[in-house]
Amino acid sequence: MCINLNVSQYYSYIQAGKWWYSISGEIKAKIEEARIKEIHHIVKNNLQIISSLISLQREKLKDTECVKALKEIQGRITSIALVHEELYRSPDLVTLDFSTYLERMIKYLLDFYRPEKNINLKLNVEKIFIGIDTAIPLGIILNELIHNSVDYAFPNKSEGEISVNLCEAENYNQYLKKFWGFRADSKCQNEKHFQYVLIIKDNGMGLPKEIDFKSTNSLGLQIVNLLVEQIEGCIEIETNKGTKFSIWFSDLRAYPKSH
Ligand SMILES: Nc1ncnc2c1ncn2[C@@H]1O[C@H](COP(=O)(O)OP(=O)(O)OP(=O)(O)O)[C@@H](O)[C@H]1O
Ligand SMILES: [Mg+2]
Repeated sequence: MCINLNVSQYYSYIQAGKWWYSISGEIKAKIEEARIKEIHHIVKNNLQIISSLISLQREKLKDTECVKALKEIQGRITSIALVHEELYRSPDLVTLDFSTYLERMIKYLLDFYRPEKNINLKLNVEKIFIGIDTAIPLGIILNELIHNSVDYAFPNKSEGEISVNLCEAENYNQYLKKFWGFRADSKCQNEKHFQYVLIIKDNGMGLPKEIDFKSTNSLGLQIVNLLVEQIEGCIEIETNKGTKFSIWFSDLRAYPKSH
């Protein structure tokens, strides 16, 4: 498709503010697409710059608590940056391939938090596409739970296993049977109709008995609970043979918030 404008016409159109009306809908859509891609690209790059600045700051600090806190913030920032990266690649620029996102994010997290530990990752994820409002909270939840597993699940051990499963809620029972060889009752499953289930499990020592994961003073699990609420999901935990969190959720684009 070509636009028959010579340069002087073009500038006079711009000056008159009429150029936008002179081009076809198809070209407008392409310009809009390029603009949205550019925005995702810029946001991702800016978030990476912030993360690098925090890295530099971290290297100057001696207090281990501060270093740990800054590292955790970097993990959260990267979980958002990778959502923008996936949106940049997405065909419709509105929903992202969450399965690819999960894979990239988990590999990054294992490398970032505990490169020296030999953690075997078992990943079984169905291909699903979700919007940014659902993906960002889930990315931050993932950051908190994977970080906890690498930090606490395997004390005094140099290896362990983390499995992450993602499936459509209607396939949940078959999925459990296939990957873990059993069926389990789920309160969330009966609570309301959810589209998907994300399961994050380690085979470590399990959550200490005194910790009620729904009401901790520590920030990590508080953030997890708040974000599950934000996406109107449901979370449950099993602590025999390690720690297993199941998060039931729907894409907020398909099921907009009820309030
Ligand atoms: N996968 C796990 N295996 C064993 N213990 C765990 C696991 N996840 C969490 N815990 C325990 O639960 C506690 C609370 O976790 P939480 O993420 O809320 O706080 P934190 O990791 O101590 O601090 P932060 O606020 O930086 O996340 C941890 O201190 C740890 O003792
Ligand atoms: Mg934590």
